[in-house]
Amino acid sequence: MIIKTILITGGAGFIGSHVVKLFVNKYPEYHIVNLDALTYAGNLENLSEIESLVNYTFVKGDITDETFISNLFDKFKFDDVIHLAAESHVDRSISDPLAFAKTNILGTMVLLQNFKRIWSDKWQGKRFYHISTDEVYGSLGETGLFTETTSYDPNSPYSASKASSDHFVRAYGETYGMPYVISNCSNNYGPNQFPEKLIPLFINNIINKKNLPVYGDGNYTRDWLYVLDHAKAIDLIFQKGKNSETYNVGGINEWKNIDLVKLLCDQMDEKLGRNKLESQGLITFVKDRPGHDLRYAIDASKINKELGWEPSVTFNEGLSKTIDWYLNNEKWLNQVTSGAYKEYYNKQYKK
Ligand code: NAD
Ligand code: TYD
Repeated sequence: MIIKTILITGGAGFIGSHVVKLFVNKYPEYHIVNLDALTYAGNLENLSEIESLVNYTFVKGDITDETFISNLFDKFKFDDVIHLAAESHVDRSISDPLAFAKTNILGTMVLLQNFKRIWSDKWQGKRFYHISTDEVYGSLGETGLFTETTSYDPNSPYSASKASSDHFVRAYGETYGMPYVISNCSNNYGPNQFPEKLIPLFINNIINKKNLPVYGDGNYTRDWLYVLDHAKAIDLIFQKGKNSETYNVGGINEWKNIDLVKLLCDQMDEKLGRNKLESQGLITFVKDRPGHDLRYAIDASKINKELGWEPSVTFNEGLSKTIDWYLNNEKWLNQVTSGAYKEYYNKQYKK
Protein backbone atom coordinates (compact mmCIF):
# COMPACT_ATOMS: atom_id res chain seq x y z
CA MET A 1 0.00 0.00 0.00
CA ILE A 2 1.32 3.45 -0.96
CA ILE A 3 1.72 5.67 2.13
CA LYS A 4 3.27 8.75 0.55
CA THR A 5 4.15 10.31 -2.79
CA ILE A 6 7.63 11.75 -3.17
CA LEU A 7 8.80 14.04 -5.96
CA ILE A 8 12.42 13.45 -6.95
CA THR A 9 13.68 16.04 -9.44
CA GLY A 10 16.60 15.40 -11.78
CA GLY A 11 16.18 11.64 -11.41
CA ALA A 12 17.40 10.88 -14.94
CA GLY A 13 20.78 12.47 -14.21
CA PHE A 14 23.86 10.97 -12.61
CA ILE A 15 23.20 11.16 -8.86
CA GLY A 16 19.42 11.41 -9.23
CA SER A 17 19.16 8.10 -11.10
CA HIS A 18 20.97 6.28 -8.27
CA VAL A 19 18.74 7.95 -5.70
CA VAL A 20 15.56 7.08 -7.63
CA LYS A 21 16.65 3.43 -8.01
CA LEU A 22 17.49 3.19 -4.32
CA PHE A 23 14.15 4.66 -3.21
CA VAL A 24 11.96 2.75 -5.69
CA ASN A 25 13.57 -0.59 -4.75
CA LYS A 26 13.88 0.00 -1.00
CA TYR A 27 10.50 1.61 -0.35
CA PRO A 28 7.67 -0.15 -2.25
CA GLU A 29 5.32 1.80 0.05
CA TYR A 30 6.40 5.11 -1.50
CA HIS A 31 5.20 6.31 -4.88
CA ILE A 32 8.28 7.91 -6.47
CA VAL A 33 7.58 10.50 -9.16
CA ASN A 34 10.73 11.35 -11.09
CA LEU A 35 10.52 14.75 -12.78
CA ASP A 36 13.26 15.49 -15.28
CA ALA A 37 13.52 17.77 -18.32
CA LEU A 38 15.89 15.29 -20.04
CA THR A 39 18.49 17.91 -20.89
CA TYR A 40 21.78 16.68 -22.39
CA ALA A 41 22.60 15.33 -18.89
CA GLY A 42 19.40 13.33 -18.40
CA ASN A 43 19.11 9.81 -19.74
CA LEU A 44 16.23 7.38 -19.23
CA GLU A 45 18.60 4.48 -19.98
CA ASN A 46 19.91 5.08 -16.45
CA LEU A 47 16.54 3.91 -15.11
CA SER A 48 15.63 0.98 -17.36
CA GLU A 49 15.77 -1.56 -14.50
CA ILE A 50 12.95 0.14 -12.57
CA GLU A 51 10.84 1.75 -15.30
CA SER A 52 8.06 -0.86 -15.12
CA LEU A 53 7.74 -0.98 -11.32
CA VAL A 54 4.31 0.02 -10.00
CA ASN A 55 5.57 2.52 -7.42
CA TYR A 56 7.50 4.52 -10.05
CA THR A 57 6.32 7.23 -12.44
CA PHE A 58 8.45 9.27 -14.81
CA VAL A 59 7.32 12.75 -15.84
CA LYS A 60 9.17 14.79 -18.43
CA GLY A 61 9.05 18.47 -17.52
CA ASP A 62 10.99 21.59 -16.69
CA ILE A 63 11.15 22.87 -13.10
CA THR A 64 11.14 26.45 -14.38
CA ASP A 65 7.76 25.98 -16.14
CA GLU A 66 5.41 27.49 -13.54
CA THR A 67 2.13 26.31 -15.05
CA PHE A 68 3.38 22.79 -15.61
CA ILE A 69 4.81 22.49 -12.10
CA SER A 70 1.67 23.95 -10.53
CA ASN A 71 -0.50 21.38 -12.34
CA LEU A 72 1.88 18.59 -11.33
CA PHE A 73 1.67 19.52 -7.62
CA ASP A 74 -2.14 19.72 -7.90
CA LYS A 75 -2.25 16.28 -9.45
CA PHE A 76 0.14 14.42 -7.09
CA LYS A 77 0.06 16.50 -3.84
CA PHE A 78 3.66 15.49 -3.11
CA ASP A 79 4.29 14.77 0.57
CA ASP A 80 8.01 15.39 0.17
CA VAL A 81 10.40 16.75 -2.42
CA ILE A 82 13.98 15.55 -2.94
CA HIS A 83 15.41 18.17 -5.27
CA LEU A 84 18.41 17.27 -7.42
CA ALA A 85 17.55 18.81 -10.81
CA ALA A 86 20.17 21.37 -11.73
CA GLU A 87 22.63 22.51 -14.29
CA SER A 88 25.68 20.95 -12.69
CA HIS A 89 28.87 21.54 -14.66
CA VAL A 90 31.22 24.42 -13.74
CA ASP A 91 32.70 24.76 -17.25
CA ARG A 92 29.25 25.12 -18.81
CA SER A 93 28.34 27.71 -16.15
CA ILE A 94 31.29 29.81 -17.29
CA SER A 95 30.07 29.89 -20.89
CA ASP A 96 26.31 30.12 -20.12
CA PRO A 97 25.69 31.52 -16.61
CA LEU A 98 22.09 32.55 -17.28
CA ALA A 99 21.02 28.94 -17.87
CA PHE A 100 22.35 28.19 -14.38
CA ALA A 101 20.49 31.10 -12.79
CA LYS A 102 17.29 30.00 -14.50
CA THR A 103 17.29 26.31 -13.58
CA ASN A 104 19.14 26.38 -10.28
CA ILE A 105 17.62 29.51 -8.75
CA LEU A 106 14.30 30.12 -10.48
CA GLY A 107 13.57 26.38 -10.85
CA THR A 108 14.17 25.81 -7.13
CA MET A 109 11.89 28.75 -6.31
CA VAL A 110 9.08 27.40 -8.49
CA LEU A 111 9.25 24.11 -6.55
CA LEU A 112 9.38 25.93 -3.20
CA GLN A 113 6.39 28.12 -4.14
CA ASN A 114 4.28 25.11 -5.08
CA PHE A 115 5.28 23.07 -2.03
CA LYS A 116 4.29 26.05 0.12
CA ARG A 117 1.04 26.55 -1.80
CA ILE A 118 -0.03 22.96 -1.10
CA TRP A 119 1.12 22.54 2.51
CA SER A 120 1.68 25.91 4.23
CA ASP A 121 -1.27 25.50 6.62
CA LYS A 122 -0.38 21.88 7.47
CA TRP A 123 3.41 21.41 7.27
CA GLN A 124 3.47 18.56 9.81
CA GLY A 125 5.27 15.48 8.42
CA LYS A 126 6.25 17.14 5.13
CA ARG A 127 9.80 17.89 4.01
CA PHE A 128 11.69 19.68 1.25
CA TYR A 129 15.15 18.11 0.88
CA HIS A 130 17.54 20.22 -1.18
CA ILE A 131 20.69 18.57 -2.57
CA SER A 132 23.59 21.00 -2.76
CA THR A 133 27.32 21.04 -3.19
CA ASP A 134 30.44 21.83 -1.18
CA GLU A 135 31.36 24.35 -3.90
CA VAL A 136 29.10 26.95 -2.21
CA TYR A 137 31.82 27.33 0.45
CA GLY A 138 34.35 28.57 -2.11
CA SER A 139 37.96 27.44 -2.08
CA LEU A 140 40.19 26.15 0.71
CA GLY A 141 43.92 26.82 0.92
CA GLU A 142 46.34 23.94 1.49
CA THR A 143 44.77 23.11 4.88
CA GLY A 144 41.38 23.10 6.63
CA LEU A 145 38.02 21.49 5.93
CA PHE A 146 34.52 22.77 5.08
CA THR A 147 32.14 22.38 8.03
CA GLU A 148 28.40 23.09 8.13
CA THR A 149 29.17 26.53 9.58
CA THR A 150 31.75 27.60 6.99
CA SER A 151 30.61 30.87 5.38
CA TYR A 152 29.32 30.74 1.83
CA ASP A 153 31.86 32.18 -0.62
CA PRO A 154 31.03 30.83 -4.11
CA ASN A 155 33.37 31.60 -7.00
CA SER A 156 31.80 30.13 -10.16
CA PRO A 157 28.41 30.90 -11.71
CA TYR A 158 27.51 27.27 -10.89
CA SER A 159 28.38 27.54 -7.20
CA ALA A 160 26.82 31.03 -6.96
CA SER A 161 23.55 29.65 -8.36
CA LYS A 162 23.61 26.69 -5.97
CA ALA A 163 24.40 28.99 -3.02
CA SER A 164 21.49 31.19 -3.98
CA SER A 165 19.11 28.24 -4.13
CA ASP A 166 20.34 27.05 -0.71
CA HIS A 167 19.54 30.50 0.69
CA PHE A 168 16.03 30.43 -0.75
CA VAL A 169 15.37 27.01 0.80
CA ARG A 170 16.49 28.34 4.20
CA ALA A 171 14.42 31.50 3.67
CA TYR A 172 11.26 29.43 3.07
CA GLY A 173 12.05 27.57 6.28
CA GLU A 174 12.52 30.74 8.33
CA THR A 175 9.75 32.80 6.72
CA TYR A 176 7.01 30.27 6.05
CA GLY A 177 7.92 27.51 8.50
CA MET A 178 8.64 25.03 5.69
CA PRO A 179 10.33 21.87 7.03
CA TYR A 180 13.54 21.44 5.09
CA VAL A 181 16.93 19.83 5.15
CA ILE A 182 20.00 20.57 2.98
CA SER A 183 23.08 18.49 2.26
CA ASN A 184 26.28 19.76 0.70
CA CYS A 185 28.33 17.04 -0.91
CA SER A 186 31.81 16.80 -2.39
CA ASN A 187 32.65 15.59 -5.95
CA ASN A 188 30.85 12.38 -6.88
CA TYR A 189 32.09 9.71 -9.27
CA GLY A 190 30.69 6.36 -10.40
CA PRO A 191 28.52 4.72 -13.06
CA ASN A 192 26.23 6.83 -15.28
CA GLN A 193 28.11 10.13 -14.93
CA PHE A 194 28.00 12.23 -18.07
CA PRO A 195 31.49 12.37 -19.62
CA GLU A 196 31.99 16.11 -19.21
CA LYS A 197 33.22 15.83 -15.59
CA LEU A 198 36.82 14.85 -14.93
CA ILE A 199 36.63 11.09 -14.26
CA PRO A 200 34.21 9.90 -16.97
CA LEU A 201 35.65 12.34 -19.53
CA PHE A 202 39.12 10.95 -18.93
CA ILE A 203 37.89 7.33 -18.94
CA ASN A 204 36.31 7.93 -22.34
CA ASN A 205 39.46 9.63 -23.65
CA ILE A 206 41.71 6.84 -22.38
CA ILE A 207 39.49 4.23 -24.10
CA ASN A 208 39.80 6.24 -27.33
CA LYS A 209 43.51 7.12 -26.83
CA LYS A 210 42.69 10.84 -26.85
CA ASN A 211 44.57 13.57 -24.95
CA LEU A 212 43.76 14.03 -21.26
CA PRO A 213 43.36 17.82 -20.84
CA VAL A 214 44.53 18.67 -17.30
CA TYR A 215 43.71 22.28 -16.41
CA GLY A 216 46.60 24.48 -15.20
CA ASP A 217 49.33 22.64 -13.29
CA GLY A 218 47.01 19.82 -12.13
CA ASN A 219 47.61 20.63 -8.48
CA TYR A 220 43.94 21.37 -7.77
CA THR A 221 42.45 19.14 -5.10
CA ARG A 222 39.01 17.55 -4.81
CA ASP A 223 37.42 15.19 -2.26
CA TRP A 224 35.87 12.27 -4.17
CA LEU A 225 32.85 10.23 -3.07
CA TYR A 226 31.41 7.13 -4.76
CA VAL A 227 27.91 7.98 -5.96
CA LEU A 228 26.20 5.02 -4.24
CA ASP A 229 27.60 6.22 -0.91
CA HIS A 230 26.09 9.63 -1.62
CA ALA A 231 22.73 8.02 -2.45
CA LYS A 232 22.86 6.15 0.89
CA ALA A 233 23.64 9.41 2.70
CA ILE A 234 20.66 11.07 0.99
CA ASP A 235 18.39 8.21 2.12
CA LEU A 236 19.66 8.53 5.71
CA ILE A 237 19.31 12.32 5.79
CA PHE A 238 15.84 12.11 4.27
CA GLN A 239 14.71 9.57 6.89
CA LYS A 240 16.62 10.72 9.98
CA GLY A 241 18.10 14.18 9.41
CA LYS A 242 16.78 17.03 11.56
CA ASN A 243 14.67 19.77 10.02
CA SER A 244 16.41 23.13 9.36
CA GLU A 245 19.81 21.43 9.44
CA THR A 246 22.62 21.13 6.93
CA TYR A 247 24.72 17.99 6.56
CA ASN A 248 28.08 17.95 4.83
CA VAL A 249 28.78 14.72 2.94
CA GLY A 250 32.28 13.87 1.71
CA GLY A 251 34.53 11.00 0.78
CA ILE A 252 37.35 11.78 3.26
CA ASN A 253 39.35 11.16 0.12
CA GLU A 254 41.38 14.09 -1.20
CA TRP A 255 43.28 13.83 -4.46
CA LYS A 256 45.27 16.33 -6.47
CA ASN A 257 43.91 16.10 -10.02
CA ILE A 258 47.24 15.04 -11.49
CA ASP A 259 47.67 12.17 -9.00
CA LEU A 260 44.11 11.02 -9.60
CA VAL A 261 44.62 11.07 -13.38
CA LYS A 262 47.80 8.99 -13.05
CA LEU A 263 45.99 6.42 -10.88
CA LEU A 264 43.16 6.29 -13.42
CA CYS A 265 45.64 5.79 -16.28
CA ASP A 266 47.39 2.97 -14.41
CA GLN A 267 44.17 1.13 -13.51
CA MET A 268 42.93 1.44 -17.08
CA ASP A 269 46.19 0.29 -18.67
CA GLU A 270 45.98 -2.84 -16.55
CA LYS A 271 42.33 -3.52 -17.40
CA LEU A 272 42.84 -2.82 -21.11
CA GLY A 273 46.03 -4.90 -21.29
CA ARG A 274 48.06 -1.88 -22.38
CA ASN A 275 51.69 -1.22 -21.58
CA LYS A 276 52.51 0.21 -18.13
CA LEU A 277 52.44 4.06 -18.21
CA GLU A 278 51.03 4.05 -21.77
CA SER A 279 47.97 6.19 -20.96
CA GLN A 280 49.97 8.65 -18.82
CA GLY A 281 51.52 9.66 -22.15
CA LEU A 282 48.13 11.15 -23.07
CA ILE A 283 48.27 13.73 -20.24
CA THR A 284 48.32 17.25 -21.68
CA PHE A 285 48.40 20.39 -19.54
CA VAL A 286 45.97 22.93 -20.97
CA LYS A 287 44.83 26.48 -20.22
CA ASP A 288 43.41 26.79 -16.71
CA ARG A 289 39.72 27.17 -15.91
CA PRO A 290 38.95 30.82 -14.99
CA GLY A 291 38.28 31.25 -11.25
CA HIS A 292 39.44 27.65 -10.63
CA ASP A 293 38.92 26.72 -6.94
CA LEU A 294 42.17 25.37 -5.51
CA ARG A 295 40.85 22.84 -3.04
CA TYR A 296 37.63 21.35 -1.67
CA ALA A 297 37.57 19.05 1.35
CA ILE A 298 34.68 18.11 3.61
CA ASP A 299 34.53 17.57 7.35
CA ALA A 300 31.89 14.80 7.43
CA SER A 301 31.95 14.31 11.21
CA LYS A 302 28.42 15.65 11.79
CA ILE A 303 26.69 13.09 9.54
CA ASN A 304 29.00 10.42 10.91
CA LYS A 305 28.25 11.19 14.58
CA GLU A 306 24.55 12.03 14.25
CA LEU A 307 23.45 9.56 11.58
CA GLY A 308 26.21 6.94 11.58
CA TRP A 309 27.10 7.46 7.90
CA GLU A 310 30.50 6.82 6.42
CA PRO A 311 31.76 5.99 2.92
CA SER A 312 31.65 2.23 2.28
CA VAL A 313 34.12 1.86 -0.58
CA THR A 314 37.77 2.89 -0.85
CA PHE A 315 38.79 5.07 -3.78
CA ASN A 316 40.70 2.21 -5.41
CA GLU A 317 37.60 -0.01 -5.27
CA GLY A 318 35.22 2.73 -6.37
CA LEU A 319 37.41 3.79 -9.26
CA SER A 320 37.85 0.18 -10.37
CA LYS A 321 34.06 -0.41 -10.30
CA THR A 322 33.54 2.84 -12.20
CA ILE A 323 36.02 1.95 -14.95
CA ASP A 324 34.47 -1.53 -15.24
CA TRP A 325 31.02 0.03 -15.63
CA TYR A 326 32.16 2.28 -18.49
CA LEU A 327 34.04 -0.58 -20.18
CA ASN A 328 30.93 -2.79 -19.94
CA ASN A 329 28.54 -0.06 -21.09
CA GLU A 330 30.06 0.98 -24.36
CA LYS A 331 26.61 1.46 -25.89
CA TRP A 332 25.65 3.98 -23.19
CA LEU A 333 28.94 5.82 -23.63
CA ASN A 334 28.71 5.89 -27.43
CA GLN A 335 25.14 7.11 -27.27
CA VAL A 336 25.88 10.05 -24.95
CA THR A 337 29.07 11.05 -26.77
CA SER A 338 27.49 11.27 -30.21
CA GLY A 339 25.90 14.41 -31.68
CA ALA A 340 25.79 17.43 -29.39
CA TYR A 341 28.62 16.10 -27.19
CA LYS A 342 31.09 16.45 -30.06
CA GLU A 343 30.10 20.10 -30.50
CA TYR A 344 30.55 20.76 -26.77
CA TYR A 345 33.91 18.98 -26.72
CA ASN A 346 35.30 20.89 -29.66
CA LYS A 347 34.20 24.21 -28.22
CA GLN A 348 35.57 23.48 -24.74
CA TYR A 349 38.88 21.83 -25.61
CA LYS A 350 39.91 22.94 -29.08
CA LYS A 351 40.08 26.68 -28.48
P1 NAD B 1 23.46 15.89 -13.69
O1 NAD B 1 23.82 17.08 -14.52
O2 NAD B 1 24.02 14.56 -14.03
O3 NAD B 1 21.88 15.71 -13.69
C1 NAD B 1 20.99 16.79 -13.58
C2 NAD B 1 19.61 16.31 -14.01
O4 NAD B 1 18.71 17.42 -13.87
C3 NAD B 1 19.55 15.83 -15.46
O5 NAD B 1 18.86 14.62 -15.56
C4 NAD B 1 18.80 16.96 -16.17
O6 NAD B 1 18.02 16.51 -17.27
C5 NAD B 1 17.92 17.49 -15.05
N1 NAD B 1 17.55 18.89 -15.26
C6 NAD B 1 18.38 19.92 -15.60
N2 NAD B 1 17.68 21.05 -15.74
C7 NAD B 1 16.38 20.74 -15.48
C8 NAD B 1 15.17 21.49 -15.44
N3 NAD B 1 15.17 22.79 -15.74
N4 NAD B 1 14.03 20.86 -15.10
C9 NAD B 1 14.05 19.54 -14.80
N5 NAD B 1 15.14 18.76 -14.84
C10 NAD B 1 16.30 19.36 -15.17
O7 NAD B 1 23.80 16.32 -12.21
P2 NAD B 1 24.32 15.45 -10.98
O8 NAD B 1 25.78 15.42 -11.02
O9 NAD B 1 23.55 14.19 -10.90
O10 NAD B 1 23.90 16.41 -9.77
C11 NAD B 1 22.63 16.30 -9.15
C12 NAD B 1 22.53 17.31 -8.03
O11 NAD B 1 23.57 17.07 -7.09
C13 NAD B 1 22.70 18.76 -8.50
O12 NAD B 1 21.80 19.55 -7.77
C14 NAD B 1 24.14 19.08 -8.15
O13 NAD B 1 24.29 20.46 -7.89
C15 NAD B 1 24.33 18.25 -6.89
N6 NAD B 1 25.72 17.82 -6.63
C16 NAD B 1 26.45 17.19 -7.59
C17 NAD B 1 27.74 16.76 -7.30
C18 NAD B 1 28.59 16.02 -8.31
O14 NAD B 1 29.76 15.76 -8.06
N7 NAD B 1 28.04 15.63 -9.46
C19 NAD B 1 28.28 16.97 -6.03
C20 NAD B 1 27.50 17.61 -5.06
C21 NAD B 1 26.21 18.03 -5.37
P1 TYD C 1 34.91 18.60 -12.50
O1 TYD C 1 34.76 17.11 -12.65
O2 TYD C 1 34.43 19.48 -13.59
O3 TYD C 1 34.25 18.98 -11.11
P2 TYD C 1 34.32 20.37 -10.27
O4 TYD C 1 34.83 21.45 -11.13
O5 TYD C 1 32.88 20.58 -9.93
O6 TYD C 1 35.18 20.09 -9.10
O7 TYD C 1 36.45 18.91 -12.29
C1 TYD C 1 37.19 18.29 -11.25
C2 TYD C 1 38.59 18.88 -11.27
O8 TYD C 1 39.23 18.47 -12.50
C3 TYD C 1 38.62 20.40 -11.29
O9 TYD C 1 39.75 20.84 -10.53
C4 TYD C 1 38.81 20.76 -12.74
C5 TYD C 1 39.64 19.60 -13.27
N1 TYD C 1 39.42 19.27 -14.70
C6 TYD C 1 40.51 19.20 -15.57
O10 TYD C 1 41.67 19.39 -15.18
N2 TYD C 1 40.27 18.90 -16.89
C7 TYD C 1 39.02 18.68 -17.36
O11 TYD C 1 38.86 18.42 -18.58
C8 TYD C 1 37.91 18.72 -16.46
C9 TYD C 1 36.51 18.48 -16.92
C10 TYD C 1 38.16 19.01 -15.12
